[in-house]
Amino acid sequence: MANILDGLKLSKQIKQEIKEEVAQYVNKSFRPPHLSAVLVGNNGASVTYVDNKIKDCHAVGFRSSLVKLPGNINENELLQEIKKLNEDKDLDGFIVQLPLPDHIDQEKIIMAIDPEKDVDGFHPQNFGKMALEMESFLPATPYGIMTMLKRYNVPTQGKNVVVIGRSRIVGRPMSILMSRKGYPGDATVTLTHSKTQNLQDFTKNADIVITALGVPNFLKGSMIKKGAVIIDVGITRIDDSTKERGFYLAGDVDYNDVSEKASWITPVPGGVGPMTRAMLLKNTLIAYKKNIN
Ligand code: GUN
Repeated sequence: MANILDGLKLSKQIKQEIKEEVAQYVNKSFRPPHLSAVLVGNNGASVTYVDNKIKDCHAVGFRSSLVKLPGNINENELLQEIKKLNEDKDLDGFIVQLPLPDHIDQEKIIMAIDPEKDVDGFHPQNFGKMALEMESFLPATPYGIMTMLKRYNVPTQGKNVVVIGRSRIVGRPMSILMSRKGYPGDATVTLTHSKTQNLQDFTKNADIVITALGVPNFLKGSMIKKGAVIIDVGITRIDDSTKERGFYLAGDVDYNDVSEKASWITPVPGGVGPMTRAMLLKNTLIAYKKNIN
């Protein structure tokens, strides 16, 4: 049976470390770090994500603010809101929760965020720096996975890594980070996607498989090599009236099947998700330290 990469436990540890560091600054009479979240409209999942981000801030002693905007806001009005946040000297970082309504050009909005406050790491300047191995904000999910591999001492040098899914916020940055120099990295990376042919030929040869697909139970034991490390980024809500919340969360990995063969595996929930949340705090702390020093 596979060992568990316990993202929930590790995220608690990281949040504790952040909380202690914040307390040290506050004890020296510095203001606390401040993160703001912009929520446009009332998409159910987005509301939950933003609520969680705000809760996380309070748990570690950050100040947080929520900029709640109507779903019918126009692009210029939203750009004005971003400008205010960019110019707010008491704000270390902010995120614009995605997806945005269809009538708003997401790229234009992301481009308007001050890269120094882009704690999601979505601005092309941060993405470019990441690819060039320069210091930058890393997107929270890939950063969380890198941190998990590091803290669990999972070897990556020279390993065959297969990433499934080429999204801007998970798959593509993940493939870049794993190919960068140093640890965790120095891997040989294959970025697969919906047009990849014979995916199994790649996954069967992979030492590490990172799935960010959004198709529940997609990855089966028969598709992996014995002893592989399996990172499951998929989180799909499945309606189920027998559950307390009316739904449950399913990963991309057929957990019972794959864990028989894997050496390490992330559970869903309790794997990558909580690490993502912790790394947004980490990025905000990094922005804060630059601001006050
Ligand atoms: N929507 C889904 N994931 C994310 C994220 O990490 N950041 C933002 N801003 N929106 C998202």
